[in-house]
Amino acid sequence: MQSLAIVGSQWGDEGKGKITDLLGQKCDVVVRYQGGNNAGHTIIVGDKKIVLHLIPSGILHDHCTSVVGHGVVFDPEAFQVELEDVRNSGVEVTPDKLKISENCAVITSYNKLLDGLRENQGPVKIGTTGKGIGPAYEDKVSRKGLKLKDLLDKDLLIQKLRNNLQEKEILFKHLYGSDFPTVEEEAEHLFKLGKNVAPYLTDTFSFLDHALRENKKVLYEGAQGVLLDIDYGSYPFVTSSSTGAGGIYTGAGLPGQSIQEVLGITKAYTTRVGEGPFPTELFDELGEKIQTIGGEFGATTGRKRRCGWLDLPLLKYTVKASNMTSIALTKLDVLCHVDTLKICTGYKYKGQTIDCAYPGIDLSQVEPIYVEMECFKDTFETDNLSDTLKTYIETIEKFIGIPVGILAYGPERSEIKFKKEYFN
Ligand code: GDP
Ligand code: IMO
Ligand code: MG
Repeated sequence: MQSLAIVGSQWGDEGKGKITDLLGQKCDVVVRYQGGNNAGHTIIVGDKKIVLHLIPSGILHDHCTSVVGHGVVFDPEAFQVELEDVRNSGVEVTPDKLKISENCAVITSYNKLLDGLRENQGPVKIGTTGKGIGPAYEDKVSRKGLKLKDLLDKDLLIQKLRNNLQEKEILFKHLYGSDFPTVEEEAEHLFKLGKNVAPYLTDTFSFLDHALRENKKVLYEGAQGVLLDIDYGSYPFVTSSSTGAGGIYTGAGLPGQSIQEVLGITKAYTTRVGEGPFPTELFDELGEKIQTIGGEFGATTGRKRRCGWLDLPLLKYTVKASNMTSIALTKLDVLCHVDTLKICTGYKYKGQTIDCAYPGIDLSQVEPIYVEMECFKDTFETDNLSDTLKTYIETIEKFIGIPVGILAYGPERSEIKFKKEYFN
């Protein structure tokens, strides 16, 4: 196998960073293709905790090249902070190891400002990370945005910022009553930041093209999850990018190449940060227990993650939506601490029973149907799993029609069992 995609199969935070880091040991290139620093991918190595937002999770391996594809929206200010943090953790980052597309859309101060103002004053709260992601993608699609390469030419930068700010000025002044930086201030700010990014900028399309032609092993690292996808997700409570496997073709720059394996990272229960419907959400002490034991706090914003049971109709849908070929089941250790275990196997919706959360279904109107499972209390010390855990896994596999290839039972690199080989 030469190429593998890692995609979140729920609402994000499924443990993509941990799995990317582990499979990164076996591949040559790791590529981020969408999203921005709204992502928070945590990797635990011994007593070190490294949280990556923009830098791909392959960076921890010296033999691996990490690529930020042009589908990513890039905040040069956040990058500077992350670069320093990662280096302070003892990880080497050089232009050989990290390649950033010169065509990434830039997240400006205006984008971040607008994201915050909309969340605080707008009619609908999405519960965004406040990182300017939506406004930056809007600028890109409206053809008024900046590309990273524009940061290297101050005159061009001023010209493009003028064009960009013309309409926004009206919003800031008259709709939100907010201060905002002048074009000159923003140009100065971005020009300075651009100098830090410049050594890493390159034509990542050609880099990847060569790598694929040379049969290098490439891993595509998704951020967020399919249920946050702009087209496939629970709109409008989604992020602004194509988080599923489809986003790879445009966001990494991979026309016509096939991806042999799409590995859906799946938490053994469900979590969600931010607003929006969540059919299996637990509002009781059990939900709080899972939240506490699972350490369910957002890696980017520190917000509490809402917790609930594993939702198989949603999983069945995301498996189809991203053509997943296997899943990794993470955080099984957390479920070893509960004394009641349920799994959602269908919804009652508009007088019917359905087993797949096809788009168009109003998730706020479904009534989940649960099957009570026997609890498992595995210690994972040997390769033998308890019959109850085997039943949990088999129930999932049978429902979604693809195998569970990986079991994760702790944040450490060693806390994992492979039932299937990847990059063999
Ligand atoms: P990502 O955004 O999908 O990369 O996931 P996050 O890093 O935001 O959240 C997953 C959290 O769970 C991180 O703190 C990981 O260290 C942790 N984690 C990953 N796999 C496991 C696991 O199997 N068990 C436990 N207890 N924690 C895990
Ligand atoms: P990783 O890669 C979980 C959620 C936000 C909000 C919605 C829109 O760590 O899995 P945005 O700032 O993107 O406009 O917010 O998407 N969200 C995430 N939730 N994990 C993430 O990333 C997320 N990135 C965005 O909470 O509901
Ligand atoms: Mg995360």
